[in-house]
Amino acid sequence: MREPKKQLPFKFPSRFLWGAATSAHQIEGDTHNQWSVWELENAKSLAKQAEYKQTWLPRWDELKEQATDPDNYISGKSTDHYNRFEQDFDLMQQFGMNAFRFSIEWSRIEPEEGVWNIEAIEHYRKYLKELRARDIEPMVTLMHWTLPVWFAEAGGFEKRRNIHYFVRFAEKVFAELGTDMRYICTINEPEVYAFESYVNGNWPPNGSSKWRGLKVYYNLAVAHNRVAKLAHQTSRRFRVGLSKNCAHHYPGDDARLTRASSAIATWASDYLFLNRVKRNLDWLGLNYYFTNRYYGYRIHNPETPVSDLGWYMAPGDIQFVLERLYQKYGVPIIVTENGVADKDDQHRKWWILHTIIGINKALQNGVAVEGYLHWSLLDNFEWAYGKWPNFGLIHVDYKTLKRTPRKSALWFAGLIKQIRGL
Ligand code: BGC
Repeated sequence: MREPKKQLPFKFPSRFLWGAATSAHQIEGDTHNQWSVWELENAKSLAKQAEYKQTWLPRWDELKEQATDPDNYISGKSTDHYNRFEQDFDLMQQFGMNAFRFSIEWSRIEPEEGVWNIEAIEHYRKYLKELRARDIEPMVTLMHWTLPVWFAEAGGFEKRRNIHYFVRFAEKVFAELGTDMRYICTINEPEVYAFESYVNGNWPPNGSSKWRGLKVYYNLAVAHNRVAKLAHQTSRRFRVGLSKNCAHHYPGDDARLTRASSAIATWASDYLFLNRVKRNLDWLGLNYYFTNRYYGYRIHNPETPVSDLGWYMAPGDIQFVLERLYQKYGVPIIVTENGVADKDDQHRKWWILHTIIGINKALQNGVAVEGYLHWSLLDNFEWAYGKWPNFGLIHVDYKTLKRTPRKSALWFAGLIKQIRGL
């Protein structure tokens, strides 16, 4: 006799998006943009810096060899997803996924100012069609931190007059590829990009000025608003949003300074930007990774559990972020990123389960959550950390490029199928 299927303790809307997220530069391989140029110039020094910047990491002894090798910091072939995307889409289909977030690499579409690369456009046309053929809803990100070299050299988003180039790129994408698109994510984590690239000096172009950071930050809000308006003029089918990295900030005690710090952090990292784009959001993308507990003006999280990147992990707190954002902006929310650097797959299943429980609680409390896209489908190039952090549901061997789903991925696939009744 067949065992009766165990009842799930939660229900999700039938049209809920279940899937994974990626970005072009992190997986495609052989990109030529401001990042790939920067990697070649900085690989050696990043490898050197790791010797004093990364030694505090929980698994330093194991990752030392890779982290101190300049090759780790060059995206190169990466996972070769550009050529192997069909194989990767097959895996998603086997996992029961019905949505996929990825970015269209601007530097491929417009390698020189005003010059459109037909082959690249055809590539993404096929890409979208192959997703549709597998009943996977594409979510297209237009800017996930990489820029064509000519655009970066012209000052990138630091110059307000450059925004029209980005709008023109969006226009081209809509005109050429729009028929297979519905969900458009204009910009990924504008505040993280502005801060790391222009204030913290960690990413290209290594800026270290608050003023420059603010300019980029505001220009990205303008860029979003303009592209969102263009999208709405182009097609009524398009649903436009952006992905915002939002943490759960909370006071660890009742002191006035503590409460003020937590509230200011929430305002400065989330509302300052979102207030400028809120009129042009059909949905809001939440990238959730962090919880920050404040004592006075300092963040002091519990010591454990931490991921391979040393990030404190509190997956269930996504509930509070969803509730806070929905209360403030009242637009549907899609979790456009959420995941954990976990090479040995020790925490991923636990992380996903508690995230899903948190999302479900938010849904029960009336929040319109429309999807969950796990970061990431594949192990990938983790920006200034290079290739050692492993966020993938699927492990990628960078030498053979062989894909192997991690155990947690198979478990997640089972859960998705059960929830979707497949
Ligand atoms: C970014 C991804 C990145 C992930 C993990 C997000 O902030 O959008 O590109 O890989 O975090 O660090």
